Amino acid sequence: MLLLAAAFLVAFVLLLYMVSPLISPKPLKLAGAHVVVTGGSSGIGKCVAVECFKQGAFITLVARDEGKLVQAKKEIEKYSINDKQVVLCISVDISKDYRQVENVIKQAQEKLGPVDMLVNCAGMAIAGNFEEIEIDKFARLMEINYLGSVYPSRAVISTMKERRMGRIVFVSSQAGQLGLFGYTAYSPTKFALRGLAEALQMEVKPYNIYVTVAYPPDTDTPGFAEENKTKPLETKLISESSSLCQADQVARVIVKDAIQGNFNSSVGSDGYMLSSLTCGMSPVTTITEGLQQVVTMGLFRIIALFYLGSFDSIVRRCMIQKHNSQKSCKTD
Ligand SMILES: NC(=O)c1ccc[n+]([C@@H]2O[C@H](COP(=O)([O-])OP(=O)(O)OC[C@H]3O[C@@H](n4cnc5c(N)ncnc54)[C@H](OP(=O)(O)O)[C@@H]3O)[C@@H](O)[C@H]2O)c1
Repeated sequence: MLLLAAAFLVAFVLLLYMVSPLISPKPLKLAGAHVVVTGGSSGIGKCVAVECFKQGAFITLVARDEGKLVQAKKEIEKYSINDKQVVLCISVDISKDYRQVENVIKQAQEKLGPVDMLVNCAGMAIAGNFEEIEIDKFARLMEINYLGSVYPSRAVISTMKERRMGRIVFVSSQAGQLGLFGYTAYSPTKFALRGLAEALQMEVKPYNIYVTVAYPPDTDTPGFAEENKTKPLETKLISESSSLCQADQVARVIVKDAIQGNFNSSVGSDGYMLSSLTCGMSPVTTITEGLQQVVTMGLFRIIALFYLGSFDSIVRRCMIQKHNSQKSCKTD
């Protein structure tokens, strides 16, 4: 009897594996597609643009600094696979004025056709103790990381709906899946992207538009080097518990998941565990993904509790050290 039940279970799981691809979105072909990458002049965004260009896409790079844009265009053009491919550069602050963003997207669509895929990668991080982060930085980070993703997405969505196709990627962060010491200004801006993505995905799925939220781990980029300048010791020690990724590796995963129409995009085993743990009511693109989440949830929660314990002990140790050095300064 037990054997029969086990055989049924195995057959059921196998059946789910087999029908899973039938209900998944059709992969997007990048050859000849128009891909807009905000933050495409540096770091992860530039590598996303390279990855799409290598697959035959036409690229629009959006960022503020014109010099960096021109430099990135030159680097990306080295990877062309045919002489028709174009890299267009647009200099604009995506966080300030919706009409301005709408206009530049319109210009890009006039030159390279309707946008097939938008990758919202422009963003920045500021780390620090809650009471030490300048108060206006909380609003500024929300403008860049959250509104700076809302505006370009809003500007492309009507055309995508008319064409009944498209991909929108939001580049969040592992700090958008869990709150860590030092990220009181940054984390909420990345959590907000998840809420936006879930609500938007429900609206646009009937139009064959798929939304991806990427949760990169610490990645070696100019932005990361800048962030490190203000990182408290606690944040550095906690970050050291996982390794530093390369931007091209992260970009390859993001592009692959966006093409497949996967809602979650994560890198490495830590990323996989975090995405399964925090899946909540987020959509799944394959039955197997849903099954994996159901099966692994309990075990991953146990592992997460050990991580949380070790992070808390780092914070406690740092506090004791600071306290002791303050006391010895006073006695000197
Ligand atoms: N590196 C990491 O460890 C890591 C980890 C998790 C998530 N992320 C996220 O991944 C994304 C890319 O990070 P990165 O490390 O690759 O950063 P990066 O090297 O500093 O690149 C940031 C890009 O965004 C552009 N940008 C910034 N503010 C902008 C604005 N207001 N308007 C238009 N463009 C703007 C920058 O160009 P201009 O300055 O010229 O405008 C640049 O092209 C960010 O959203 C970041 O939060 C990074």
